Amino acid sequence: MQKINLPQAAKLTCPNPVTLVCTLKPDGGTNLATVSWWTYLSFNPNMIAYAMAKTSYSGEMVRNNQKVILTIPGTEIADAVMGCGSTTGRNSDKASKFGIELAGIEGSDIKVPVHSRVAIQCSLKEYHEVGDHYLYICDVEQVYGDEAEKALFAWDGYSKVAAAAQEE
Ligand SMILES: Cc1cc2nc3c(=O)[nH]c(=O)nc-3n(C[C@H](O)[C@H](O)[C@H](O)COP(=O)(O)O)c2cc1C
Repeated sequence: MQKINLPQAAKLTCPNPVTLVCTLKPDGGTNLATVSWWTYLSFNPNMIAYAMAKTSYSGEMVRNNQKVILTIPGTEIADAVMGCGSTTGRNSDKASKFGIELAGIEGSDIKVPVHSRVAIQCSLKEYHEVGDHYLYICDVEQVYGDEAEKALFAWDGYSKVAAAAQEE
């Protein structure tokens, strides 16, 4: 093996997970941001975590509202997922900009993309400063799934999203 840096390691670990982090905006709309750095933390109680750059608008929204839904987007919205990962929702509505159809979820003002394989509805428990990111630790309130949707993963670092193929 050779010495490499962490971004190079992220390329070697591809395909990496992809989520769309859905948060509530002050105008009642839903902001969508593409996030690879998420993980399951605990099944008893159900907990997950994700990391977002300190400057992200999504971070501001979840710190304000304490609510967030992480979705695993389906392959049908691959281009839109890249769009949500390269623009901020601070001054624009990404769902309409990238043509993402949203659906409501019981007991939540935050909407989720119709083409989602999984949606994990959460409350923010705590967050911590980790270098240039904040780590958001969340309690899971409800989970939804749709096996018919094929999950997206990040390839070539984070420069492309596509399905993951399983070796035979
Ligand atoms: C495939 C992919 C994965 C990404 N993963 C992360 C991530 O894990 N954490 C993060 O802070 N930003 C990540 N980004 C970048 C954010 O989505 C981007 O900064 C976005 O503009 C944030 O939007 P917001 O300001 O509306 O929250 C990723 C982008 C792409 C394309």
